[in-house]
Amino acid sequence: PQQQILKGRRVLVTSGPTHEPIDPVRFIANRSSGKQGHAIAAAARAAGAEVVLVSGPAEVADPQGVRTLHVESARDMMAAVEENLPVDCAIFAAAVADWRVADASDQKIKKDAGGAPTLHLVENPDILASIARHHTLRPRLVVGFAAETEQVVAHAKAKRERKGCDWIVANDVSPATGIMGGDLNTVHLVSAAGVEDWPSASKAEVARRLVARIAAALGEAGR
Ligand code: C5P
Repeated sequence: PQQQILKGRRVLVTSGPTHEPIDPVRFIANRSSGKQGHAIAAAARAAGAEVVLVSGPAEVADPQGVRTLHVESARDMMAAVEENLPVDCAIFAAAVADWRVADASDQKIKKDAGGAPTLHLVENPDILASIARHHTLRPRLVVGFAAETEQVVAHAKAKRERKGCDWIVANDVSPATGIMGGDLNTVHLVSAAGVEDWPSASKAEVARRLVARIAAALGEAGR
């Protein structure tokens, strides 16, 4: 039996991609599998936390014992996150779509004489940034992810400051790494204290390690 290092703590995790509708049958998405986020939710649960997982349409099954809320779009994800605050720690592992179609059609868009439609995109709300800067409900520890294909650590440092979160877990998702959708991950933990390069490990192991660090950061107080 694992040590209950997060007993009495409330933890929220976002995971998976989001789907942004174009019309009732089409959507914009990305290659996130949900493996890393779901592994974090499972590890936090195994460590005794009360966990809420807000998941987009992921490829992996809901973790045992974790209250899992299923959402489709970024806006749905934002609403579900807000409804489940306050928490002690929030981990934003979801690959949220940056853009959505401004005026998704209520009916299937027909292929017709008009030619190909033009999709007008607008920015989605940034869930991580808005929770990290929340005036009343900011969790004590806010952890973001940064999936990059170049200058991984430099971009992650900038992202940590821009979004106002405490930590960024950065990883290289270049296709050659096989990380996106794969079982292994190689991450860098970026905090105010600096950068730690973690060895390549299974997503489950990265999750356990992150949970141990979260427990240490939250400390024994307030349980
Ligand atoms: O800016 P970028 O999307 O690369 O930042 C990644 C981090 O921000 C991840 O933790 C992701 O879950 C979070 N994010 C979010 N809402 C968005 C975009 C990103 O929570 N709309």
